[in-house]
Amino acid sequence: MVLRVDVMEAALQARYGTDPATPSRRVIALTPGGREFDDALAGELAAGDDFTLLCGRYEGFDERILEHFCTDQVSIGRYVLAGGELAAMVVCDAVLRKLPGVLGKDESAVEESFSDALDGGLEYPHYTRPAEWRGWSVPDVLLSGHHERIREWRREQSRQRSLP
Ligand SMILES: C[S@@+](CC[C@H](N)C(=O)[O-])C[C@H]1O[C@@H](n2cnc3c(N)ncnc32)[C@H](O)[C@@H]1O
Repeated sequence: MVLRVDVMEAALQARYGTDPATPSRRVIALTPGGREFDDALAGELAAGDDFTLLCGRYEGFDERILEHFCTDQVSIGRYVLAGGELAAMVVCDAVLRKLPGVLGKDESAVEESFSDALDGGLEYPHYTRPAEWRGWSVPDVLLSGHHERIREWRREQSRQRSLP
């Protein structure tokens, strides 16, 4: 079973009131073979205008949908899901949390794994209370209150974790 081009045209026409063959917005088909979704693409989508996600099921889309109604194809990884719904939710979650006001503190999304602030690397480890548990200690530097040394320790941890 394949999603039909005439049915998709009717759905898009009904939703947006324009001919889907001349898309006025970004229309992204979720496909296993599309551009791999990553933090850079999440940022690109968050910075851009509204977009539409199309989810397939069964064998996927009639190729004419991809050719004529879609601006992009995006994959959330090199594996096959039963449908595009979970992939769409992954895209929405990663994009929405980059929008201003979505997180408790906007800065939370600035310095994290894959961000420019960490040169695209992985985030450093986090700790919270208690400082000691079953002999497992929070690193001394984090308890020192010395902000510059803490910053440097985090940068170094991030560098170490990001080594190939
Ligand atoms: C069973 S899959 C179709 C697989 C397709 N016949 C193929 O071999 O590439 C059904 C739908 O799930 C979605 N899907 C499956 N894996 C995906 C992935 N890794 N990323 C994004 N969407 C995916 C797509 O919308 C796809 O049309």
